[in-house]
Amino acid sequence: MERKVVVIGSLNYDVCLKQDHIPEEGETCFADQVEYCSGGKGANQAVQAAKLGVNTYMVGCVGSDSQGGFLKENIEQYGVRTDFLKIVEGSSGMSVAQSLYDGGVRGSVVKGANDQVSKEDVDALKGFLKPGDLAVFQLEIPIPVVEYGISFCKEQGCYVILNGAPAAPLAEEALRQVDLFIVNEVEAGFYCGSEILTEKAAEEEIRKMAADLDNVCIYTLGKAGAVVCEGEKCEFVPPKKVRAVESTGAGDSFIGGLCYGIVHDMNIFEAARFATCCSARTVCKTGGQPAMPALEEVLELYQETVV
Ligand SMILES: Nc1ncnc2c1ncn2[C@@H]1O[C@H](COP(=O)(O)OP(=O)(O)O)[C@@H](O)[C@H]1O
Ligand SMILES: [Mg+2]
Repeated sequence: MERKVVVIGSLNYDVCLKQDHIPEEGETCFADQVEYCSGGKGANQAVQAAKLGVNTYMVGCVGSDSQGGFLKENIEQYGVRTDFLKIVEGSSGMSVAQSLYDGGVRGSVVKGANDQVSKEDVDALKGFLKPGDLAVFQLEIPIPVVEYGISFCKEQGCYVILNGAPAAPLAEEALRQVDLFIVNEVEAGFYCGSEILTEKAAEEEIRKMAADLDNVCIYTLGKAGAVVCEGEKCEFVPPKKVRAVESTGAGDSFIGGLCYGIVHDMNIFEAARFATCCSARTVCKTGGQPAMPALEEVLELYQETVV
């Protein structure tokens, strides 16, 4: 039977304002533009996997507000199954970002419904999760639910991926239980306790972490690529040279791509090369979920990598 991907995480309604300056205390300024997007790390990763044709389920909560309906329909349009998505009383997860023309961004996030994801929502997966299925977590839902979910999914025989983003303290036991731990360079700095400024530092730290946690670790390094470490074996996966326009969702696209690779029995280094091609496509378009590529677009780039 086809292995499925079950993402247990966040959905956010993102409001993005474009303006020329950040208002001072007491000032209200005009923004030039507003965009409404479906986001949240969980939803983004699920959408990328689904766009690649992987059988993908989103487990989480949206609010009873109109944004909740928008979020649910939006991911369904991309092919994500919502059988385990709950609608709860109150507001949906939401973010408001003020972005400036020079690239600066300020924002606030309302946890909303994401904060209501519970251990019962994880328990509801009993009998549905099969050995070999992928369970994917990030840290935008309550941490105790993530910790519980990791050990629950391991008991069901799943391959568990943890994206430690946004960086937050987590029980060591949970980190050890996951099969794959993935973070970007900023988050990696948080988990290993020292800033990662060079590729060499990334490799040194990731070797230590992979040995210590005894699992596969991946650090993504933005436009510098990624390092992947499995046991003694560490590999640098170079980025694809593309004309990047916006990096929103790069890491989420990478994780959706990894899911595709793992479901299709690629080894982790091969899966990371495939994931790199997904991200490369994503950074060439604006927006998160709409920018994420379908399988054909990724294969074009990936085939160049292989030959
Ligand atoms: N400007 C870019 N050009 C090509 N690939 C990129 C670029 N920025 C990011 N990527 C790819 O996306 C992956 C994830 O990006 P990164 O910024 O590390 O994640 P996050 O979005 O979590 O911060 C990188 O490992 C790289 O392969
Ligand atoms: Mg980044």
